[in-house]
Amino acid sequence: MIEALRGLGYTTATAIADIIDNSISAGASRVEVQFDWVAQNSSIRILDNGIGMSDIELDMAMRLGDRNPLEQRASHDLGRFGLGLKTASFSQCRRLTVASVKAGSLDCLRWDLDVLASSDDDGWHLMEGPAEGSEYQLDLLNNCSHGVLVIWEVLDRIVTQGFTEQDFLDHIDRIERHLAMVFHRFIGGLRPKLHIFINGQQVKPWDPFLADHPATWSSPVERIYAEGGALEVQCHVLPHKDRLSSDQHKSAEGPDGWTAQQGFYVYRNERMLVSGSWLGLGRGRSWTKEEAHRLARIRLDIPNTADAEWKIDIRKSSARPPVLVRERLTRLAEDTRARARRVFAHRGQPVRTGIGAPIIQAWHALTHRDGVRYRIDRDHPAVRVVLDDAGLLEPQVRAMLRVIEETIPVQRIWLDTTEAKETPLTGFSKEPPAEVVSVLNVVYTNMVSRKGLSPEQARQQLLTTEPFNNYPELVSGLPDTWPSK
Ligand SMILES: Nc1ncnc2c1ncn2[C@@H]1O[C@H](COP(=O)(O)OP(=O)(O)OP(=O)(O)O)[C@@H](O)[C@H]1O
Ligand SMILES: [Mg+2]
Repeated sequence: MIEALRGLGYTTATAIADIIDNSISAGASRVEVQFDWVAQNSSIRILDNGIGMSDIELDMAMRLGDRNPLEQRASHDLGRFGLGLKTASFSQCRRLTVASVKAGSLDCLRWDLDVLASSDDDGWHLMEGPAEGSEYQLDLLNNCSHGVLVIWEVLDRIVTQGFTEQDFLDHIDRIERHLAMVFHRFIGGLRPKLHIFINGQQVKPWDPFLADHPATWSSPVERIYAEGGALEVQCHVLPHKDRLSSDQHKSAEGPDGWTAQQGFYVYRNERMLVSGSWLGLGRGRSWTKEEAHRLARIRLDIPNTADAEWKIDIRKSSARPPVLVRERLTRLAEDTRARARRVFAHRGQPVRTGIGAPIIQAWHALTHRDGVRYRIDRDHPAVRVVLDDAGLLEPQVRAMLRVIEETIPVQRIWLDTTEAKETPLTGFSKEPPAEVVSVLNVVYTNMVSRKGLSPEQARQQLLTTEPFNNYPELVSGLPDTWPSK
């Protein structure tokens, strides 16, 4: 049975997180994860300073399903099934030793799958004390007055053939990123409730929402009352890459990268279960993760009283919204996705009008029965002035516009966007201001000298005209008079 349970699908990171869950439930404020590379004899130890277990409690803890999943748990308890310690450990190792210090006594019990497999009878041989030659592993408990030490040895699922020390180090990096993410609300903030160390180095929190950044959009917090307890939801749209330094952009992307980290972040008692998923929501068919929505991240807090409704799994890595809240969550997500799409498409430029008037766009997307066509607006000031003054050239100019409209490189733009995971540069972004000013001057001069607009009227109109609406400072700085040529 244990051999079968090994295949539950933990990674080393999710398995360690499951062990740390127990430490948190036991009130620990400090967890140390120690990785020791000794090739085939490598080991992983996790030590906490929680309340520890008595000999009877330890005996129970080593058993599979010692607690009924239906029983009510304390509101800070991260456990549910009475399985995690064993299933997480055996997913990574063949020998699990747990030592506990409580009320001055040290107790230590051990499961060894190789011993179980080779025993003659069908007994479940739970052994006392560390394995021969592993006594030193308990050194970590030397100065400990209460707490638990979990030791994983014979790491057959990690140290597979060809696995090197460098692979082990890379593995540790991935684990650190995972712990930084799932426990960020415990290890972050002004007064962290928990400190996690990996080989002596403190793990720093990774907060998915960049809520302190001025360019992040955050919705008000919404409480949804549902069976099993109230949920809390807050939607965020993170700033576009152009508004972040490259370091900020790199660190905000998260362990799996921007596209993978979009969607809902589900927390159960502040512990992250799901790190970016659309939870099977969507209209008609479930939403998939797309580039355009990569800036959308939604915090969703659920209490542990709703475990059954949310179908929490043993690994604490999935959750499914109950039918009754799906509609509300879908609506909130739709709104957030639309906002995220706009930020993505405008490269983070807010769509500014200056005076609340609609923007005069250079291009329009016209939807026909057969599909969408893109048309240049003949009334855009830069276009209008040419048409009005074209005289005999007018038919040629109109023909030119039609040719441009019929040949916009739509496929090319689409491919470039998917490949670069960014929309191409438009609206003068990344161009020097001088470039904007020179085009702006031509249009402005025409509006005033040929169209008879007053300088003030011309500036007002330019504030709502693409692409100059993105440069209100330059528009406002246009002079009332200029030297005639
Ligand atoms: N670090 C620890 N400190 C104190 N008690 C612990 C610790 N780890 C485990 N325990 C005790 O052992 C029990 C079994 O742990 P286990 O992780 O197997 O199941 P669980 O946490 O109850 O539920 P789940 O399967 O959802 O994790 C816990 O309920 C707890 O009482
Ligand atoms: Mg547990």
